[in-house]
Amino acid sequence: MVKVRHLKKIFYTGKGARTAVNGLDFDVRKGEFFALLGPNGAGKTTTISILSTILKPTEGTVSIDSLDVTQEPHRVRQKIGVIFQDPSLDDRLSAIENMDFHGRLYGMSSLQRKERIQFMLSTVDLWERRHDLVRTYSGGMRRRLEIARGLMHFPELLILDEPTIGLDPATRRTIWEYVHFARKEWGMTILLTTHYLEEAESADRLAIMNEGRFVALDTPENLKKQVGPEIVTLESDPDKIELIKSFLCEQFGIKEFRDERIGSFSFPLPADIGNAIHVVQKITVPIQAMTIRSPDLDDVFIQITGKGVSSSSEAASPFHRVYRGKL
Ligand SMILES: Nc1ncnc2c1ncn2[C@@H]1O[C@H](COP(=O)(O)OP(=O)(O)O)[C@@H](O)[C@H]1O
Ligand SMILES: [Mg+2]
Repeated sequence: MVKVRHLKKIFYTGKGARTAVNGLDFDVRKGEFFALLGPNGAGKTTTISILSTILKPTEGTVSIDSLDVTQEPHRVRQKIGVIFQDPSLDDRLSAIENMDFHGRLYGMSSLQRKERIQFMLSTVDLWERRHDLVRTYSGGMRRRLEIARGLMHFPELLILDEPTIGLDPATRRTIWEYVHFARKEWGMTILLTTHYLEEAESADRLAIMNEGRFVALDTPENLKKQVGPEIVTLESDPDKIELIKSFLCEQFGIKEFRDERIGSFSFPLPADIGNAIHVVQKITVPIQAMTIRSPDLDDVFIQITGKGVSSSSEAASPFHRVYRGKL
């Protein structure tokens, strides 16, 4: 569905050239859910803007369903629905007017528009409010309206640029329900950018992006497997932390430490070392607590780039086993 080759985008500003996208190669299959995960400034929006014909690439090619985005932007636009990072609704119009305008832009007939507006607004639970000005909508309602609008013309590819940023958890969940519904019902292909790890988790494949490049591309499961079987976090007297780290390094060759809070650090347990409890029992300095969890995508990102995608606590894995007291 999507084919990207040697894609590069350089912005020339007053201060000189800035390479936002620096050589991307990837394909997205029909019906696939593909995620781009990366911190702010990684180049996600720039990539999405090129795919949706808003920006021209500096180098390289992009095709959508075999149509080149620079040669045939109009035909490409018919195939895609885009939900932008920055809201793009007209808030002086009602929901129904925003939808109708969009339908006209896409050349839908009056009957098609009427049927489709009713169906989509009902799906996102806004039919009762259809005549109200968007100005009076909450953030979550606006987002739902944007999703309804993005799906209105039956796009084959839905592109979402950080669609749930700044929304409360309940609205985020609702939006995901619509997106998965569209995917299941219509076999839609989905390309998502996000810096929320749990949104990238449910993708078929995901690319981790940093400074304009992909630093990894695989299924979420395979990426997490590369980190190691488990992440161990230890808590001890802050003065003893360095001592414990050097013991772990000398005895077990463990090198990748990550400081958590004061007096607490974590490390991926190398696969060939075995049981975490046995490792920790060899430490002679008192350990106040030990936590063992499965690696998450933040661990993957840290291992590859040396820094986290997001510092939010939402990144925490639900698969915790906590040991307190004497080990
Ligand atoms: N129109 C522009 N002009 C100059 N620099 C830009 C422009 N758009 C984006 N950039 C720069 O390109 C880089 C990537 O930005 P962006 O694609 O928005 O990243 P992301 O969406 O991953 O946060 C950033 O360094 C950003 O400042
Ligand atoms: Mg962005």
